[in-house]
Amino acid sequence: MFKKSLIISCLLSSITLFAQYEAAEELFDDASCMTCHTEMDFVPKPGKVDSFKKLIRVVDACRFANDVSWFDYESLDVVRYLNHKYYKFEETE
Ligand code: HEC
Repeated sequence: MFKKSLIISCLLSSITLFAQYEAAEELFDDASCMTCHTEMDFVPKPGKVDSFKKLIRVVDACRFANDVSWFDYESLDVVRYLNHKYYKFEETE
C-alpha cells in the first residue's frame, strides 16, 4: 500500500514538473527572447553565468531591459526551464 502511493506521488510530481516547464517554455517563446539569443548563448561560462543564482540574475536583467512583464515566480519558472534545458546547474536560491 505504502509502495503504491509512493509510486503514484512520484508520477504526479513528474507530471507537475512537466507542466511547469511547458508553461515556462510558452512564457519564454512569447517574450521573444530568441530574437537576440541563440541556443549557443545558453551554455555555462566560467566567471559569467556559472551558477543557478547568476542565471536568476541575468534572466532578471534581460526581462527588465526588455520590458517583459513576468511575475517573479514566472521568471523563476523560466530560469528553471532554461536550467533544465541548457545549463544543468544545481538549483539553489
Ligand atoms: C534586445 C536583445 C535581447 C533580448 C530581447 C533578450 N536578451 Fe538576454 N541577453 C542579451 C545580451 C546583450 C546579453 C549579455 C550577453 C553577454 O554579456 O555575454 C544577454 C544575456 C542573457 C543571458 C545570459 C547568457 C549567458 O549564459 O551568458 C540569459 C540567460 C538571457 N540573456 C536570457 C534572456 C531571456 C530569458 C530573455 C527574454 C525575456 C532575453 N534574454 C531577451 C540581449 C537580449
